[in-house]
Amino acid sequence: MRLSRYFMPTLREAPADAQIVSHRLMLRAGLIRQEAAGIYAWLPLGLKVLKKIEQVVREEMNRAGAVEILMPTLQLADLWRESGRYDDYGEEMLRIKDRHERDLLYGPTAEEVVTDIFRSYVKSYKDLPMNLYNIQWKFRDERRPRFGVMRGREFLMKDAYSFDIDEAAARRSYNRMFLAYLNVYARLGLKAIPVKADPGPIGGDMSHEFMILAETGESEVFAHRDLVEMGAPGPDIDWFGDLEAEVSRRTSLYAASDEMHDAARFEAMPEGKRMTARGIEVGHIFYFGEKYSAPMGAKVTGPDGKDVNVQMGSYGVGVSRLAGAIIEASHDDAGIIWPASVAPFGAAVLNLRVGDAGCDEVCEQAYRALTDAGIDPLYDDRDDRPGAKFAATDLVGIPWQLIVGPKGVADGVVELKRRATGERQSLPLDAALKAIVNG
Ligand SMILES: Nc1ncnc2c1ncn2[C@@H]1O[C@H](COP(=O)(O)OP(=O)(O)O)[C@@H](O)[C@H]1O
Ligand SMILES: [Mg+2]
Repeated sequence: MRLSRYFMPTLREAPADAQIVSHRLMLRAGLIRQEAAGIYAWLPLGLKVLKKIEQVVREEMNRAGAVEILMPTLQLADLWRESGRYDDYGEEMLRIKDRHERDLLYGPTAEEVVTDIFRSYVKSYKDLPMNLYNIQWKFRDERRPRFGVMRGREFLMKDAYSFDIDEAAARRSYNRMFLAYLNVYARLGLKAIPVKADPGPIGGDMSHEFMILAETGESEVFAHRDLVEMGAPGPDIDWFGDLEAEVSRRTSLYAASDEMHDAARFEAMPEGKRMTARGIEVGHIFYFGEKYSAPMGAKVTGPDGKDVNVQMGSYGVGVSRLAGAIIEASHDDAGIIWPASVAPFGAAVLNLRVGDAGCDEVCEQAYRALTDAGIDPLYDDRDDRPGAKFAATDLVGIPWQLIVGPKGVADGVVELKRRATGERQSLPLDAALKAIVNG
């Protein structure tokens, strides 16, 4: 992409009401624009990041055996009357009437819709386990939308729903999601810890929230330090084998959000292992059994020929929130530092003297080579001061900067800067291109 033909409205100053660093940087780097409280337009750079996060989530869901669908944003109130939630949900639900005076709502979540889909088609235990997910916009009329996309009213969520014949099978489905979530966050360059969360009226141990540690997090987290450094399981585990050991290696270490905190258990750990921190909730998984299948009549025939209510769980990832959470975890005074997996462009080419035949020639050559190598470069070909170009490129956080100026061109070199470390090197163009392509 040539910057002269792109739309990247960077700002010198963030609006004063942006309180946390990720919100400020998302506005300044021209990723999002607020349209109303908690409602954002995604500008080109932000949209690219959002799509990349979405794709990582999608790939890990698919790997763990979930199947993608797309459910509508508008849902029938009558479905929610079946589950009993239409009246319970309260003011967070945006209620709408169509021209026939039929009650609709903008989905804050999709248990009812997915249960309706399931009950319409699936009748036998032989079709289980099943896990259906979608990546779709949700609306919750939050009392206090804040921190930009972190707590929006309209936000993008990946929500998956598992269907199983009994609780033991539901646990296997839960375990697959638990581990898939860890892989998602690791690919996004994040350290996420699973903490015990409120299982609701059904009780049990199958409810976890995934927390990114950050000072600006809205939740308080108490955890065993070893959990922070424990890596993700990686893609090569046997997804449909026994995952219990992989999961309990993690859940056996203490970790809880404040509402589930057990001070006595926490204090029983060696002092050096106790960690109290703020966390951003980037995912939430839980098992809720027959909560929807019973009132909505989602039954399957078991091996013994008897019909039973299907056992369900749901699994959410805050896709748009993650854009903010990644920035909270990865930035410096100059701006964002995107991990390569979600960076809007793979490299930036900075022409420090547009119109100089030598600089133009080297930049065009670099731009072509990087494009051909699939790096998706952003070429700053605007006639602007070098200082402004450096500042904008640092701000938007592209992992590599290939800097081309007249002096270097005369000496047969370009400058290569790695955004994350600030490390710079002068080297011939070929070598610089090779370094970028090899990561
Ligand atoms: N208002 C919001 N803005 C952005 N992301 C949200 C919002 N509410 C929830 N999420 C994300 O969606 C995930 C699943 O939501 P869920 O657990 O159902 O919400 P809650 O924690 O509010 O009960 C959360 O872990 C979070 O990452
Ligand atoms: Mg939650």
